[in-house]
Amino acid sequence: MLENRKILLCVSGGIAVYKAVALVSKLSQAGADVKVIMTESAREFVQPLAFQVMSRNDVYFDTFDEKDSSVIAHIDLADWADLILVAPATANVIGKLANGIADDMVTTTLLAATAPIWVAPAMNVHMYDHPAVKRNIDRLYGDGIRFIEPSEGFLACGYVGKGRLEEPEKITALVGEHFTAAPGPLTGKKVVVTAGPTRERIDPVRFLTNFSSGKMGYAMAQAAAELGAETILISGPVSLPVPAGVKRVMVESAKDMYDAVLAQYDNADIVVKTAAVADYRPKHIASSKVKKKDGESVLELERTDDILKTLGSMKQHQLLIGFAAETNDVDTYAKGKLEKKNVDYIIANDVSKAQRGFDADTNAVTVFGKDDFQQQFDLMPKPVLAKQLLELIVERENIHDR
Ligand code: PMT
Repeated sequence: MLENRKILLCVSGGIAVYKAVALVSKLSQAGADVKVIMTESAREFVQPLAFQVMSRNDVYFDTFDEKDSSVIAHIDLADWADLILVAPATANVIGKLANGIADDMVTTTLLAATAPIWVAPAMNVHMYDHPAVKRNIDRLYGDGIRFIEPSEGFLACGYVGKGRLEEPEKITALVGEHFTAAPGPLTGKKVVVTAGPTRERIDPVRFLTNFSSGKMGYAMAQAAAELGAETILISGPVSLPVPAGVKRVMVESAKDMYDAVLAQYDNADIVVKTAAVADYRPKHIASSKVKKKDGESVLELERTDDILKTLGSMKQHQLLIGFAAETNDVDTYAKGKLEKKNVDYIIANDVSKAQRGFDADTNAVTVFGKDDFQQQFDLMPKPVLAKQLLELIVERENIHDR
């Protein structure tokens, strides 16, 4: 199942280290070539020799102990791996990774890695529930790191709850599924999705925004990742969890979103602009809170850059998909945007109707494409719709030859 697969196991210090020895055994039995790095605390629980015997490879724990003078060990190991597992992952190693701290062999290697990183936490139930740990886990989800959730049961500290390292057999099975999963129609492609509203500041306490919840855009990102794409989600301020396997970049204003999208554009294959971007922003942002006065007040606005139109004007190999939120003359406005913004598809939703558009869990849309292509999708949950929309586009476009 794992023949010719190179797995790097990073072991941090908790009582579950003994299960990591069994994990190396299971992975090796499944055919994987396993190398192990240990933190200093992990070595307090189990000797490196145990991992060396199980993996039949050198075990690494000292950043400055360069076993091979022709390479730098932590870079070499990071480049070597097809997949990196951090198991057991303590609150400490999760915190370091979430904050970019690299102060030992495990954390320097993790920062140098380009291979997928999977983290399997193991700790006391209250530690796992601590807001700081949750914050760090959320941040790592946003960096595209996958988590193997701990299971519930008796913990070494005497508590019963969530915090046990997942069983080695289960982790090995998940790794196997990862390598044997059939490629999706978007495997090898990079999809950039924007979602949510933007905020345009008026003063330090006020801003202009809209009712976008991010649900439609997050569903598009999730669908892209499920179809195999490397997915970057550029999100305005919303409070939704990061979909599995998606890298998220949080932005605030239309200008921030413009910069973030442009930075990803050159090597993107598909860009899906679901975000509800402000068309106008205050011309001046007051540096202190604007005080109320008698009488009326006028807020002077200026245009923001149209991100989608800019992408359309620079378009090379990319496939561009825009959304249009309309309250009237939906078809006319949507077709107009298709032309004006030079995009391949516009997905129009009539946001004057109930259960669709802003903040709804469902949506109904019409897709407009070049050559008068038009297809309607009736009301359905946004995640279901997102999958159907991307499948339609994959089917109509020769994505792999673009
Ligand atoms: O987030 P939800 O609550 O789930 O709601 C989903 C949604 C209603 C926001 C979504 O389905 C939707 O319709 N998104 C587009 C909303 C919109 O701003 O439409 P528009 O017609 O104003 O813009 C057309 C296109 O140009 C959009 O792809 C938009 O991202 C893009 N645009 C607009 C202005 C701007 N300055 N830059 C842009 O790139």
